[in-house]
Amino acid sequence: MTADGSFASRLKTALARRHDLMQRADVTAWRALDGAGDGCAGLTIDCYGPAAVLNVDEDAGLTDRAVTGVARDAQSQLQPLGVEAVYVKPFVRDRSRLGGALPDESRSPAPRAGVTQPASLVVEEYGVRFEVRPYDGLSTGLFLEHREHRRALAAGPPMRVLNLFAYTGGFSMPLAHAGAHVTNVDVSARYLEWGRRNAALNDVPADRLRFLRRDAREFLVQAARHAAERFDLVILDPPTFGAADRRRDVPAWRAVDDYPALIRAAVAVLTPGGRVFAATNTRQLAGDDALASLVTAALGRTPRWQPLSPWPVDVTARGRVAAVSFVP
Ligand SMILES: C[S@@+](CC[C@H](N)C(=O)[O-])C[C@H]1O[C@@H](n2cnc3c(N)ncnc32)[C@H](O)[C@@H]1O
Repeated sequence: MTADGSFASRLKTALARRHDLMQRADVTAWRALDGAGDGCAGLTIDCYGPAAVLNVDEDAGLTDRAVTGVARDAQSQLQPLGVEAVYVKPFVRDRSRLGGALPDESRSPAPRAGVTQPASLVVEEYGVRFEVRPYDGLSTGLFLEHREHRRALAAGPPMRVLNLFAYTGGFSMPLAHAGAHVTNVDVSARYLEWGRRNAALNDVPADRLRFLRRDAREFLVQAARHAAERFDLVILDPPTFGAADRRRDVPAWRAVDDYPALIRAAVAVLTPGGRVFAATNTRQLAGDDALASLVTAALGRTPRWQPLSPWPVDVTARGRVAAVSFVP
């Protein structure tokens, strides 16, 4: 894949595939290009209203100059769809190793192509609003892969929900908007604050959301001891790696090693008949049926699997993200 005609024609094909999604007024954040699924291994382009974010993996094998060419091509094809800027971010697998040091460009208001956008934008997903920040580090505040899962989880009757590794509350907002009571647990005060802003954007009554700055595993240990802390749905969507924080007594998180125990601990805080939604973007766990096998091995039996909505039309790369839902 090069930044010449082959990229331009692959993006054109990818956009044609997403035609119906791009026409929707109630979805303003969508993935224009999904790596190998759209013939461009190592490159994804996420559109958040007027700002597009081009993520570049080492696998893409592109020089910096070629990345600029890709960004400009993307900008010219996305402009008719309302995109005014393309920001570039390197895809970093183990962010915990960065120790807070981020590539300058991930914090620069100047896009690689197009014109500077506001630091904070509001996007919509089926009537739910999210604050997105296109140049506030490596992530924007909303992961697009789970759009249909967010919608489907919120479609059932209101419940008591536990969202671990909650980040900015992506899963929590549609649920709380629909009437659920959601406990958000995350180690980052900054992301929990962002979640509170998302709640305000959606006029969610304050008593529907709890925000707890805690290690997810520590929360589960404490909750298991208190009968009042039981949930009809537990959402697990952890990162691949999480840095240890000795000051706050938070051990490092490594999905490959730690996910099985997390599943067992999550099951211990379910109400009778309650379910777990578990997702991953960890390479070793996202391929084929790896996540389902991990759940079965962790529980020591096959759970009752619950159907999930198919991946949306803009998530075309297989083996990069996986999700299962089950009643243990
Ligand atoms: C990839 S994001 C999770 C995505 C999120 N589930 C969503 O729906 O957008 C990773 C999050 O895990 C949090 N995190 C990392 N280690 C953690 C730990 N030990 N306990 C709780 N949260 C943790 C990070 O602060 C970050 O917000």
